[in-house]
Amino acid sequence: MGARFPFPSFPRGWFVIGFPEDVAPGQVKTLRYFGQDIVVFRTESGVLSAVDKTCPHLGAHLGGGHVKGECLRCPFHDWGFRPDGVCVDVPYAPKIPPKAAVKTWHIREQNGVILAWYCPRGEAPTYEVPVLEEEGWTGNKTVRWVVRSHPQEVAENTVDCSHLGPVHHVGRTDVLSVEQEGHFMRVVLHMEASGAPIDMPDEFNDVELDVKLYGIGHIVSSTTVLTSDMRTRQRIYPTPIDEDTIAIFGVSNIKMMPDEDYTREIEDIFYKAFLVDFPKDFPIWENKAYLDKPMLAGGDGPIGRYRRWCRQFYDYPEAAAAQPTAAAAPAAAAPTTALAKLKGWLRTLAQAPAANSNGAGNNGHNNNDGGLDAHLIDLGPRKPRPAAAAVGKFASVGDYFETLERRFNPAAAGDLQAVIQWVLTGDKACAYFAEIKDGNVQRVAGTHPAPTITIEMSADDYLLMINGELNGARAFSTGRGRLRGPVRLAMKMQRLFPLDAAV
Ligand code: FES
Ligand SMILES: [Fe+2]
Repeated sequence: MGARFPFPSFPRGWFVIGFPEDVAPGQVKTLRYFGQDIVVFRTESGVLSAVDKTCPHLGAHLGGGHVKGECLRCPFHDWGFRPDGVCVDVPYAPKIPPKAAVKTWHIREQNGVILAWYCPRGEAPTYEVPVLEEEGWTGNKTVRWVVRSHPQEVAENTVDCSHLGPVHHVGRTDVLSVEQEGHFMRVVLHMEASGAPIDMPDEFNDVELDVKLYGIGHIVSSTTVLTSDMRTRQRIYPTPIDEDTIAIFGVSNIKMMPDEDYTREIEDIFYKAFLVDFPKDFPIWENKAYLDKPMLAGGDGPIGRYRRWCRQFYDYPEAAAAQPTAAAAPAAAAPTTALAKLKGWLRTLAQAPAANSNGAGNNGHNNNDGGLDAHLIDLGPRKPRPAAAAVGKFASVGDYFETLERRFNPAAAGDLQAVIQWVLTGDKACAYFAEIKDGNVQRVAGTHPAPTITIEMSADDYLLMINGELNGARAFSTGRGRLRGPVRLAMKMQRLFPLDAAV
């Protein structure tokens, strides 16, 4: 039991202990998770194994050993162990002791991570985590952080809706659904988010966040930006290192879009945003107290349901099993009357893990467990969005280019030096480029030999876009337009050439 939390430091389940590329063929490494050393090695043919650190012969630390062929050799007397832990060679003895084997961990290598099954009682896995679709998604971009916290706090953050505004600058958040089934929990949220925190245009985006938890150590968060038709997937894997500290492995992917260059640019923007945005929680996690009886309000998210669901992953001491939260609660007097006994029994029932229950919608009410489901209170109707800027401003793309130099904002350009090329197609085809240098802009008809960015689109679509009737990000993500060059510069276009400036 960790000192900061009223539950054990090491929950049962699948946890990520590394990335496959961390252990090359022929390599041995000692990793430290769950308060112990785990020796991982990869045979020369590529089979990965994780074993206990202690050699069953005379107790040497196997992390000091080496791989030879398909075996891990102990550094002390050179016994050879296969990936399944069985000793298959004692170089100096005529016979191998029949039970000579080192304890192995259950591991999986899938979707670019190494998973290890942790059970305090040493029992075999009771569930598997699904293999995620990789076809049509970009490759893994990864990160590993170390934070003074508990894995349960990390996943709780994903259902804590009301921190999304103050910490992550998300607008309104609604819980669309909550599901639980055994080790699986899913929460679907709808958010109104500005692109500004990730260097995208500062406009409202409809975002759906689908968070799937497979145990406490395995969070798959899929984001669909409904406004621009972009899909991203962040995986977050908190793993206990010891009683106070956790590693958080992060993996970011985005759904491939028709234009590969555009996909790479957007992938980079989302990954960098992930690196900046996710750690904003760390100082809070490191310094917060875990309140067993928090005082929740409407809009807080399904925190109570999440906490009840978490209880299934802990082995509590026998006495605390019926009421695992008792550690932080004042001791209750033993029930003496039949009514008190009945109340006690009902309370115990209400605190059991809520497996197999389906989530209520926004209008449902389920205020057991001290009102921890306060998120179910309806937040009321959404406020009307600000109207899209500059609707109907330009009669033609010709208007846009004729006013380009007048609309130029030198303050937004700063010391930018760039050539922006437009190649517009269709009946009203035209090509222009704008040369930005020393706070000035010059518009030229035709094509530049080496533009910084090129925007290719039909003139009709471009007119819709500048008039606010076609979302720019959606146009490029769906292949309706093509962008060559840095997306960040394209994102700056509205500031360089404001659409609503006096014409
Ligand atoms: S202690 Fe490992 S072979 Fe002897
Ligand atoms: Fe957060």
